[in-house]
Amino acid sequence: MPVSPVQSPAELLSGSAETGHGIEQVSLSAIATEYGTPCYVYSKAALLAAWHEFRDALAPLSPLLCFAVKANPNLAILNLLAGEGAGFDIVSGGELARVIAAGGDPAKTVFSGVGKSHHEMVQALQAGVHCFNVESPAELHRLNAVALNAGMRAPVSFRVNPDVDARTHPYIATGLKESKFGVAWEQAIALYETADRLPGLAVRGIDCHIGSQITELDPFAQALDRLLELAEALIQRGISVDHLDLGGGIGIRYRDETPPAMNDYAAVLIGRLQGRREKLLLEPGRRIVGNAGLLLARVEYTKTAGAREFALIDAAMNDLMRPALYQAWHEVRSVHNEGTPRRFDLAGPVCESGDILARDRDLALKEGSLIAFLSAGAYGSSMSSNYNTRPRPAEVLVDGTRTHLIRRRQQLEDLWKEEQIPSAG
Ligand code: LLP
Repeated sequence: MPVSPVQSPAELLSGSAETGHGIEQVSLSAIATEYGTPCYVYSKAALLAAWHEFRDALAPLSPLLCFAVKANPNLAILNLLAGEGAGFDIVSGGELARVIAAGGDPAKTVFSGVGKSHHEMVQALQAGVHCFNVESPAELHRLNAVALNAGMRAPVSFRVNPDVDARTHPYIATGLKESKFGVAWEQAIALYETADRLPGLAVRGIDCHIGSQITELDPFAQALDRLLELAEALIQRGISVDHLDLGGGIGIRYRDETPPAMNDYAAVLIGRLQGRREKLLLEPGRRIVGNAGLLLARVEYTKTAGAREFALIDAAMNDLMRPALYQAWHEVRSVHNEGTPRRFDLAGPVCESGDILARDRDLALKEGSLIAFLSAGAYGSSMSSNYNTRPRPAEVLVDGTRTHLIRRRQQLEDLWKEEQIPSAG
């Protein structure tokens, strides 16, 4: 059972390909038999180990750690983290409702996102969120009006754009000057002065989020230095903030990346923040759940096409979108070695040429074999869709020798229950 965090994808697996892999003390073939495939499977121990490592490394700063709900919004996972004292980072009214349904505390929840609607602002004010991370002047003025109308003061931070290069995939780098996210560094002071004067707002913090799957420390150090610079400039102008929110973004190993060790990441933050009065907030997602989950699938057919050999599997891009969307690499393992390894492309049944979940993998498999896509705990299930009228997969949480179904497989009727055929005439 993983008692330390999974650092390398295959560490999530127990057993061997000879005897059949499992998660903790449960075999993956037993899970496939009981719950069917495709199926997301998570290890409770691995999830908690990652959370504890994060929490313990930063303990000297007593930060508020707000799990980024978008990484994995399953109620069972949110509930587990809420039980560990986690706060949450949300980007929609839907995520707020989930946090509440899972037993999370809105007072430990920060509301990020560039396009908060009027309705979402009202909902979050009434729930009593910890802070709104505001991303534009227009949003600031709307939030002020909404709060005044409700007879309240909205707690605010600006998500500032520190213009540091996170050196990650362009689709998930967010801290650059021309990104749609955040407010420009040059505008920040003037915006804080405005916010400080508006009667419906209470300035609480400074926020940034420079990107995701960041595998170097330097971008975090640079971003934090810029936040501290801004905090000082604001103090000079008589505005003091209670917290500094450095966002999420710390990466994991999918293949051969070397993401920072938690203690090294923590040292960068502790070195800069110890002794300061502002509280640290962080919004980690991937680092907590990414390597604690896998997608279990079954081979339907094998087929050769010219020089290539395909394994056609029952999971597809609608279940795990990252390979098609970002050319992301997920490690694939046969649950049992069956035959001699051959080189396969693993393709799903969706009618798109992009529906390839992995290319050129040497695997010992045949029709009916089970395979596992590793490092699928973050942005796997949460980005899944019903494309091609495919029900979203089941999700299972393993805890020692026990399994819990934490999301039942969608039934076909679920897929069209909101639709209607207009009555004739
Ligand atoms: N805070 C904010 C404001 C964010 O936008 C995000 C992620 C996070 C925190 C959490 O970042 P993390 O610690 O998980 O890196 N779908 C992409 C990732 C998109 C990330 C979006 N924002 C993927 O599958 O790689």
